Amino acid sequence: MNLRRVVAVTKETQIQQLARSVGQEIFIADDITEAVDIIQTVEPDLILFDYHFTQRQIHEFLETTHKKSINTPIVVVGNDGDNTDLAKELKQIGIFDYLLGRQDYSRLKQIAGRIKEQGKVVNHNKDTSDFFVEDLAASVSMVGKSSSIQNTIKMIKLVAASKCNPVLIVGETGTGKELSARAIHILRCPNEPFVAVNCAALTANLLESELFGHVKGSFTGADRDKTGLLELAGTGTLLLDEISEMPIDLQAKLLRILQEKNFRKVGGTKTLTCNATIIATSNRNLKIEVQNNHFRRDLYYRLNISPITIAPLKALERREDISLLADYFLKTSTICPDKQNKITSLTKMATEALEKYDWPGNVRELRNVIDRALLLETTDKIGLKSIVIDPMEYEQDPNSPITSHIKDFSLAKAERELICGALRETGWQKTKAAVLLGITRATLYAKVEQYNINKDSSAEKELQTKASSPLLPQPIAAQ
Ligand SMILES: Nc1ncnc2c1ncn2[C@@H]1O[C@H](COP(=O)(O)OP(=O)(O)OP(=O)(O)O)[C@@H](O)[C@H]1O
Ligand SMILES: [Mg+2]
Repeated sequence: MNLRRVVAVTKETQIQQLARSVGQEIFIADDITEAVDIIQTVEPDLILFDYHFTQRQIHEFLETTHKKSINTPIVVVGNDGDNTDLAKELKQIGIFDYLLGRQDYSRLKQIAGRIKEQGKVVNHNKDTSDFFVEDLAASVSMVGKSSSIQNTIKMIKLVAASKCNPVLIVGETGTGKELSARAIHILRCPNEPFVAVNCAALTANLLESELFGHVKGSFTGADRDKTGLLELAGTGTLLLDEISEMPIDLQAKLLRILQEKNFRKVGGTKTLTCNATIIATSNRNLKIEVQNNHFRRDLYYRLNISPITIAPLKALERREDISLLADYFLKTSTICPDKQNKITSLTKMATEALEKYDWPGNVRELRNVIDRALLLETTDKIGLKSIVIDPMEYEQDPNSPITSHIKDFSLAKAERELICGALRETGWQKTKAAVLLGITRATLYAKVEQYNINKDSSAEKELQTKASSPLLPQPIAAQ
């Protein structure tokens, strides 16, 4: 099994590909500052550095991260030469291991295995098996015992065992579409690459070259050949997230690939074969998108062979998963290491409050609420007072007994607001928003996930701001 999250500090495609071979989620950082930023947000299992970084830079990086109590293993990828001495020196300053070159896939897999084993030792007292209905769910940490989630898992297995390609997964935001895609990947081709692209995040041109790759000189700025994700996925999986946002021209090209199984790089003449399983996800109703002429009807039919649907948490048949998920997040959260193993349960009222809420952001929102509750709680049980839906509501009431926590959130609040503003400003084009904010796309993605920002919550916030109605800090039970 792969590691959950890997950060690759590199601009080299080959090293990014190496990272993908052992990680379920890959975050790319261009430089050390960005790496520190991403690592704090995503808490990876492994950091890969390329050989461009000097020993001194890596040493400084280690010092910075150690000060922040981050001890993620670092592997440095060498430049295919004999660097035995350098490897030794780097290990002395604290790196976990050294790879001789960019093709050293098998050794990296062994290293990932070692990291996993060590992780198991650390998490030994966290037996989470009660949260999963079966092995597949456990392997991707898909919590749930409701009949609804069991049906979803059944469909995942059926589809994975078939030759169905492409696969469509539909469900509201945060319901676990990507998790389901990973489950299919694990069943079909666990040792092959899993690559993902968010179709809403890039302009049409960028998305095209990201998917198909391009040849040097094919357009202004194409100063070298680029391998596209379709090629990188090889015989693995390509996840097309938010397919409904794919520009219509590109939808036509995608349809052709799905039918003919081959493609060309932008500006290229060579025909390449597409062998990957293509999984598309959507949180919009594609049928309605077709009716509104936003989505091609032919592509819709091509995708909609045997869709996997995931019910939202508010659905009656998924309600019973809420308390299970809350317990799971409580048990596995790493947000407050000091409180780990001290806060072990929720009060009955807190659980009931969670069960009553509608969870528009679904599982992601629930996880964030539990993290926040862990931050706020001062006793050994999460109580109703610590269940707060939106940290931005805190500052409205200076007399609130939990005002002292405002400081903890004030920076986060400003950052969240800026990100929402930039996203609205750019019509949710994340590449443009990242430029406006002066951060990379990877950082923006990490922060959007961290703050649970989605179009709906952002629009809602805007309305609230416009109406300028002060909101008192409310535990969700009162809403
Ligand atoms: N059943 C589940 N058990 C445990 N964690 C889950 C479950 N479903 C979702 N999650 C977690 O919730 C978060 C959101 O899940 P995921 O990214 O798969 O959702 P999504 O449907 O792809 O969301 P979006 O539409 O916003 O992209 C992730 O951190 C994921 O691990
Ligand atoms: Mg997703």
